[in-house]
Amino acid sequence: MASNSRLYQDLSAALPTLSKAVFSQSVNKFGPAKVQIRPMRMKGGIFYQVESFADNKAFHKNLNPDELLYHVERELDGAYRQVLIVCAEFSAQYSLNTKGTYKKKTLASLPVPGGIASHNREKSYILSEGEAIPALVDMGVFTADYRIVRSKYDKFRQINRFVELIDHEFTENGRDEITILDFGCGKSYLTFVLYYYFTVKKGMKAKIIGYDLKADVVEHCNQVAEKYGYDDLRFVHADVTRDVLYQEKIDMIVTLHACDTATDYALYYALEKKAEYIFSVPCCQHEVNSSIRKGGELDVFLSHGIIKERMSALLTDSIRAGILEDMGYKVDMIEFVDFEHSPKNIMIRARRCGKRADKNILRAKELAERYGFEQSLLRLVTKRG
Ligand SMILES: C[S@@+](CC[C@H](N)C(=O)[O-])C[C@H]1O[C@@H](n2cnc3c(N)ncnc32)[C@H](O)[C@@H]1O
Repeated sequence: MASNSRLYQDLSAALPTLSKAVFSQSVNKFGPAKVQIRPMRMKGGIFYQVESFADNKAFHKNLNPDELLYHVERELDGAYRQVLIVCAEFSAQYSLNTKGTYKKKTLASLPVPGGIASHNREKSYILSEGEAIPALVDMGVFTADYRIVRSKYDKFRQINRFVELIDHEFTENGRDEITILDFGCGKSYLTFVLYYYFTVKKGMKAKIIGYDLKADVVEHCNQVAEKYGYDDLRFVHADVTRDVLYQEKIDMIVTLHACDTATDYALYYALEKKAEYIFSVPCCQHEVNSSIRKGGELDVFLSHGIIKERMSALLTDSIRAGILEDMGYKVDMIEFVDFEHSPKNIMIRARRCGKRADKNILRAKELAERYGFEQSLLRLVTKRG
């Protein structure tokens, strides 16, 4: 990048209120895959942390403004196909063209508040009230001045927590691109926020598809995505338990309160496609509850409706987690939000490690036979063999 280039000029102008700059899709396969720049308040003033990702490791150095601009000019000049600059005044994505210059696209969903981080900064949510995400205004989560609509407060909290849990996996992840499917996306607050998180906050190329049974909701979500130029975010009217879904490689499956067995089909799809990440918050586990009958020690949980319902939900999610483990995933069960915010508050978080086993599946089959219940994920993996 020459010091008179548009990108250089824009970055210099952005520095006082820079939130971050991300250089991704390296042209040189031996150089860092991605470089992320963030301002830091340190002893001695404002510095810029330059975080480079190579071989799944992150390397850091802190530079003053002049050193930073010199580094950008010398090292990052035309070396990355995609560049994102986010500051208080503007946000823009730059794509390297075949002539070696950058084409600029201003992002509609911004500006976001610029900010200097400190090494001792307090814990903050990934998304904050006041953050300019106009799609969330269209979706009815934010007011026109980006305040949270009171009745959507719990939903906003859930989405923030969901993205925060995803963020833990991506703090030191050198990925440039990701493909995600959201099963039972509904009004798609989460889907929009994920797109925003990956493309704007992480500077990655994200392709996201949301599936839902409700045609009108799907149509509205596609209109909003189009309105904001979210080219790789789309919504498809489909029944995930029977329709043919996206057939290319996928990296992540998410579900947030996808009804009943839709969660099982999502998890099964992740297994079939060897998706690396699964983030799934199930809800209304009716299938086991409506089919389980007395047959042994568990009978003590089956006499009272409310206990039976809760026990069936726990049994369902334990079986799902066990199956994922057997099929080569490392699984955590996390309390997703406080019970008072949503009683459906367990997240199944799984990452593919490839280590296979069969003990959980065998145990689940024995239980299903003894207590006569149906469980879709168990049936699907058993049928597959
Ligand atoms: C409780 S809503 C959750 C929506 C969204 N994920 C959220 O958290 O706001 C469940 C959604 O799953 C969808 N759904 C249920 N079964 C489905 C199926 N078999 N295929 C596709 N979508 C399904 C419903 O239409 C509904 O929109």
